[in-house]
Amino acid sequence: MSPRPFEARSPAPTTIEDARFAHESEEEFARLLDFYGVRWQYEPRTFPLQRGDDGRILEAFSPDFYLVDLDFYVELTTLKQGLVTDKHRKLRRMRELYPDVEVKLLYRRDYVRLLTKYGIGAVNEQERMSVREVLFSASEIERRIGELGWEIARDYHGREPLLVGVLKGVTCFMADLMRHVALPVSIDFMTISSYEGDGSGAVRVVQDLSENIAGRHVLIVEDIVDTGMTLNHLMKQLQAREPASLAVCALLDKRARRLVDVQLDYVGFEVPDEFVVGYGLDFRQRFRNLPFIATVRSEPDGPDAGTEPR
Ligand code: IMP
Repeated sequence: MSPRPFEARSPAPTTIEDARFAHESEEEFARLLDFYGVRWQYEPRTFPLQRGDDGRILEAFSPDFYLVDLDFYVELTTLKQGLVTDKHRKLRRMRELYPDVEVKLLYRRDYVRLLTKYGIGAVNEQERMSVREVLFSASEIERRIGELGWEIARDYHGREPLLVGVLKGVTCFMADLMRHVALPVSIDFMTISSYEGDGSGAVRVVQDLSENIAGRHVLIVEDIVDTGMTLNHLMKQLQAREPASLAVCALLDKRARRLVDVQLDYVGFEVPDEFVVGYGLDFRQRFRNLPFIATVRSEPDGPDAGTEPR
């Protein structure tokens, strides 16, 4: 007998405040998912496993979580052997009846390992403790960059843009963005540094472009625009080399701190007036490898929004 459609619980809780968790470990897992910005639903579906002749459900399975972006269910489990055996039996039945539905059985020690496997939780404990709030999760960043890539490909149709990245903060963004621009593109990089301490905002080119940009359609790719001083200076320098066009694509726009009015043609996200790290952005060279963008906890010598040199 083929199973009837599973029963949906609507609306399923999606926040810690709304979900009344049956176990502490479920709340812990939900907090971890929130930390990494992974969208979840708590016990959203009940899958009937066995029905009586009158159609009544005799046995059912309600996985603890559904991870929306990853499209699979998670059932948390303890090490108590009796319970594990029963769960395995139900899972086997579930896979027979609903072969298209993916359910993962997860032990406590596996939480972080699972998220790491999906490129979400690859964060060491020390850095995890320093993160205050995840502003943009890995999947949100990916989605937004897809949109930016599409807009750029549309606007530059028939041309071959040169993407100019400003190191080092732009590494992740450039790598992902260029793979979403469905055009022939070239890339080049510059390393610049702000003079420290004199407050002038002057910019020094540490390593220049390898390409001649005269007559080229140049798109500057920046990680974050804060006061706008760096970008303003850079644009003047590049404009003097007579490109056919010059435009800017910034992943993050910290508009509240702008001192120089620079035009941003493409912007990923606007960020509040706080120091952010991750996805290439650093605080004293750390945190660049976080797969998401986050604010960090303030320490005595911690980041003071935007004042750090690159
Ligand atoms: P601006 O010249 O003030 O616009 O500064 C831009 C540069 O400062 C960026 O390219 C970053 O290298 C750095 N920066 C500004 N704000 C942040 C932040 O919140 N996190 C990490 N780096 C930042």
